[in-house]
Amino acid sequence: MIQLRNIIKTYENKGQSIEALKELSFDFKKREITGIIGYSGAGKSTLLRCINLLEVPSSGEVIIDGVTLNDLDSKELRETRKKIGMVFQHFNLMRSRTVAKNIAYPLKGSGLSKKEINERVDELLSLVGLEDKKDNYPSQLSGGQKQRVGIARALANRPNLILCDEATSALDPETTISILKLLKKINKDLGVTIVLITHQMEVIKEICDSVIVMEDGVVKEEGDIVDIFSRPKAPITKRFLSSIFNSNKIESYLENILVREDEKIIKLAYVGTSTEEAYISRISRDYKVDASILFGNIEIIKETPIGNLIIKLKGDDKNIFDSIEYLNKNKIYPEVLKDGRKII
Ligand SMILES: Nc1ncnc2c1ncn2[C@@H]1O[C@H](COP(=O)(O)OP(=O)(O)OP(=O)(O)O)[C@@H](O)[C@H]1O
Ligand SMILES: [Mg+2]
Repeated sequence: MIQLRNIIKTYENKGQSIEALKELSFDFKKREITGIIGYSGAGKSTLLRCINLLEVPSSGEVIIDGVTLNDLDSKELRETRKKIGMVFQHFNLMRSRTVAKNIAYPLKGSGLSKKEINERVDELLSLVGLEDKKDNYPSQLSGGQKQRVGIARALANRPNLILCDEATSALDPETTISILKLLKKINKDLGVTIVLITHQMEVIKEICDSVIVMEDGVVKEEGDIVDIFSRPKAPITKRFLSSIFNSNKIESYLENILVREDEKIIKLAYVGTSTEEAYISRISRDYKVDASILFGNIEIIKETPIGNLIIKLKGDDKNIFDSIEYLNKNKIYPEVLKDGRKII
């Protein structure tokens, strides 16, 4: 378990102080992939570097498996850091060294023999699928291949934790998916805990188990990704999700839809098995409201279907109210987007 306790980081710059992290506390679960999402300047990289104390927090503690890193002396901290791999947006490879030498670099001073280092490098090359690039130089590789080298290097010392700072931001969408798959494989097969930073909800959706949403140095929302994707609470989380669920487009589309006095447009959010129930026909039958489907979308998050369905309900006020109550009780969470009674 990785625990951050009351982390504050203030940068002093030319007489100005910038509070990059304003007292953050949370736990990362072991063997999980946790995503930290936020816009530029939110404090994500600062937070990530605080986890291995590459950046020393102004106050607060980092506790990994019960050991408070702040209390370690520099030698102990160096040893602990060996068990924490880092992966960077721009790969940070040494241009004058071959792929094999880049991957072997963290093994310097590890006490392993040359033969053992070679074996370890071969093992890592095969794990990341770059056996044939062993003697190439970074300039001879594509972006995705460079990041595979970066990941192999991060794994050299058999870490139990990997910190990724925008590991896929410099890559095209297809290469991004292949790198995310590799990270997932590492997490599953080797049991490595992964903390990754991104500004794309698509990345979180693809591989994370839980997510932390940051803004201006504070955590705005955190939780299991199925919960966050199905019922986001913070406005910033909703903004991040709008790219996935097309919320912005839906809003402008609804502006042009005519809603009469006895009609309301409702958004239903459904999760998992609720998609199998006949709620729409139930409200039509039991509450005498007409429901017409305007549109819907669905995403599969961690094998759970999550979606939004936009419907128009037509009927008298009491019946519409009762059907909304009924849907609420059944955890469909209706939200009135447009109300014919409130339109002048
Ligand atoms: N070394 C530094 N000295 C002074 N201020 C800094 C330093 N590093 C970061 N900051 C400031 O701290 C805040 C958080 O920066 P940080 O790099 O952690 O954000 P980020 O969320 O990673 O942004 P991005 O998505 O652009 O990488 C910003 O206001 C930034 O200007
Ligand atoms: Mg950053």
